[in-house]
Amino acid sequence: MITIALAKGRLLEPSLKIFETLGYDTREIRESRKLVVENHGARFLLAKPMDVPIYVEYGAADVGIVGQDALRESGVNVYEPLALDYGHCRLMVAGKPDYRDAEWRMIAGLRVATKYPRIAQKFFAARGLSVEIIEVYGSVELAPAVGLADLIVDVVDTGRTLRANGLIELDQVLTSQAALIVNRASHTLRAGEIRELIEKIENRNS
Ligand code: PRP
Repeated sequence: MITIALAKGRLLEPSLKIFETLGYDTREIRESRKLVVENHGARFLLAKPMDVPIYVEYGAADVGIVGQDALRESGVNVYEPLALDYGHCRLMVAGKPDYRDAEWRMIAGLRVATKYPRIAQKFFAARGLSVEIIEVYGSVELAPAVGLADLIVDVVDTGRTLRANGLIELDQVLTSQAALIVNRASHTLRAGEIRELIEKIENRNS
């Protein structure tokens, strides 16, 4: 039986729609609090987005659907054969309007709050900027508002959260969308099943 890890949160609904289109019954996933659900010859695992890459890398799941942002942050060694057409967002540097006109690039030692410490570290290091990364677990926009950090690196979708908290976009770190990832061993050992699943997902709208 193939095991598929799905990210809970924003990507879950569109991911379940895909499997419904392929003939799976996703009601138990939506309606129960179960984290492992079997249906139609597949086993679905429900994990936090940041954890999906780990489940796939270690082979606890053969495949997973996760945002590229969480995937890049995890730094795991998996195949990423298919980008999906949903979950588009941008990972941005944001801060108070005082930092407009790239003011922030002139200041050493700024504090940056983020759920993405690895990506943020790499981004600033690649630009020769020395910053202090502060890892937080959510509601990142709070940090500049109360003086915990000068800047944030966080996901922007509609931009409403930034605006509501008096922050502006300063620079783009990366763009992200949902992606299908595959465990390296499963990719070889279950090549047929995985190829079939990828083809079905690719052709689901035709
Ligand atoms: C994400 C992100 C921003 C917000 C952006 O948070 O971290 O806070 O959504 O969306 P917007 O641009 O449409 O306002 P999420 O809701 O996933 O919760 P979290 O902050 O607790 O991680």
